[in-house]
Amino acid sequence: MRVGVYPGTFDPVTWGHLDIIQRAGRLVDHLIVSIADNPKKNPLFTVEQRVELLQKSIAGLNESFSWSVLSFSGLLVDHAHEIKANVMIRGLRAVSDFDYEFQITNANYCLADDLETIFLMARDKYHFVSSSLVKEIASFKGDVGKFVPDGVAQELMKKFNI
Ligand code: COA
Repeated sequence: MRVGVYPGTFDPVTWGHLDIIQRAGRLVDHLIVSIADNPKKNPLFTVEQRVELLQKSIAGLNESFSWSVLSFSGLLVDHAHEIKANVMIRGLRAVSDFDYEFQITNANYCLADDLETIFLMARDKYHFVSSSLVKEIASFKGDVGKFVPDGVAQELMKKFNI
């Protein structure tokens, strides 16, 4: 069985992430979306909230595939081994993502050469979307409806007392 892991911070999940999730779901038998518990990123949402937002958002997609949502702390390669993933999936939005992804992918190959990483190119309409951008728009009471599912937009509004 081919198990894929799509790791990220997902603070919060966006339509850009969900597009990658849906497409990755077609490539593997089971997709595990894994939320990195990295306090250094000073996330707006707790890990538990991010798990819940991801679960509701994936359940709302109009395509069915086998998936689950987990969280992890520590090294991604250790987590991938624990959950018996064969492949790690990352999205690439623009050339600017490349340097960072090149660095972490090669570090991951050095740490665990049994784990392959594959990249899915983000669709052009999502090239500029990031969680930070969405949080900034929401913090100024802007409409984030085009970037995140309704449930995520509602939670963002609560966070910013809108
Ligand atoms: N659509 C929308 N946004 C996207 C996106 C897409 N397709 N792809 C990336 N992004 C955005 C995210 O929203 C996020 O935006 P933000 O910085 O504004 O929050 C940004 O790109 C970073 O993406 P993310 O996928 O969350 O990556 P990350 O830099 O937070 O890294 C891990 C996540 C899990 C891969 C990384 O932290 C990790 O491996 N952690 C474990 C520790 C470890 O093993 N380290 C050693 C690796 S060498």
